[in-house]
Amino acid sequence: MDKFIITGGTKLCGEIEVDSAKNAYLPILAGTILCEDEIILNSCPDFKDIENMCLILKELGIDVKKDKQTLYINAKNADKTVIPTFLAKELRSSFFALGALLSRFKKAKVAYPGGCDIGLRPIDLHIKGLKDLGVKIVESHGYITCDASNMKGGVVHLDYPSVGATENLMMSAVLAKGTTTIVNTAKEPEIVDLQNFLNSMGAKIHGAGTSIITIEGVERLHKTIYTPIPDRIIAGTYLIACAMTGGKILVKNCIPQHFSSLSNKLQKSGCKIKTFSDKIYIESSGRLKTMGFIETRPYPGFPTDLQAQTLTLQTISKGNCIIQENLFETRFKFVPELIKMGANIKVSGQTAYISGVKNLLGAEVYATDLRGGVALVLAGLHAQGYTTIHNIFHIDRGYVNLEEKLSRLGAKIIRESENN
Ligand code: EPZ
Repeated sequence: MDKFIITGGTKLCGEIEVDSAKNAYLPILAGTILCEDEIILNSCPDFKDIENMCLILKELGIDVKKDKQTLYINAKNADKTVIPTFLAKELRSSFFALGALLSRFKKAKVAYPGGCDIGLRPIDLHIKGLKDLGVKIVESHGYITCDASNMKGGVVHLDYPSVGATENLMMSAVLAKGTTTIVNTAKEPEIVDLQNFLNSMGAKIHGAGTSIITIEGVERLHKTIYTPIPDRIIAGTYLIACAMTGGKILVKNCIPQHFSSLSNKLQKSGCKIKTFSDKIYIESSGRLKTMGFIETRPYPGFPTDLQAQTLTLQTISKGNCIIQENLFETRFKFVPELIKMGANIKVSGQTAYISGVKNLLGAEVYATDLRGGVALVLAGLHAQGYTTIHNIFHIDRGYVNLEEKLSRLGAKIIRESENN
């Protein structure tokens, strides 16, 4: 187990590259189950979640090799359709393999998924959608057992634009007989990326990025070489890091319009921002104005995955701010750790009330989940004195060598073993 030790107060300056998107890579890895030819995936980041997803593919009999940042995957000899608890409990996206398994093998048995403890994380929309397509499902003893021998194309209306349910249902229909239409789909960029990846193997999917996606079932998919999109949440995290410390950074290998809901608010708060097609420049000096009111919504609304980082910035901005978290029930678990650092925050249900203070003070804090954990890093970069962050395994799930990357921008942050 490791911890971060941060000495706050240093401005960030320089250039930083963004990794491929964790939330694009994970469903794309699930999608490789559908193909019986070799797939080459580029720019594979060393996120723990990706490592665990590759273990799941290997458990299914899929050949997975990694050479530097390139993955070579071949599911030709895949022969298992069970995802056991010890693997499923590690990550939510284990459940995204269900649709692909049903599409290819017409059966699957998957344990209830794990993932960040930020709420109930139900799977009812996935189950309802698969049943609408004729899949027989039994839920018992912590497993979901599915028989898709009679699955065929149809129309599924999602009660909520769930990212995972959209991805699962897209993949379940790729090799199914007939055409499937999914209505009220999520519109995240990662959904468009999954469509582009599947279509690069010969799938016939249209409409990703809108509320209606149609999938025409095909017989078989063929090999492809693919590079998933950059991580918009990591890009946004770096922008907020600079806003927290002051300084100027150029964030490269990103798609600015994927996180314009954040950059617009940073600009209104007083940051200087310049966007290009594949990079974004931010300059911040002095104390920023509060963003006033933020509510998290499905894309293109304000992303829940940037809520914790943005809330942290509001704790040192001028004025009061209200943040309404509409997607996950317990996404304020990191707030008590920020209060230890001197933040002035009250939480009532899914609403946080923040009154900005001039400075945070370094303290010993504990990461509670991936995005809450990285928010504490941002707080430490600003705070006066030392901040020690424990349980940083949460952060390693979605950020690679964060301490190295931030150090290159001038941050004083080191990783140490808890035994030191
Ligand atoms: C994906 O999770 C992301 N994870 C999450 O990122 C992200 O926060 C979330 O989408 C929203 O953008 C991956 O892509 C691996 P949802 P997912 O289904 O698919 C409710 C991170 O930090 N819901 O869109 O689980 C659910 O309770 C992670 O990188 C149901 O009610 O999100 C929530 O309120 C955290 N029934 C809302 O929908 C269901 O069957 C959004 O969930 C499914 C979801």
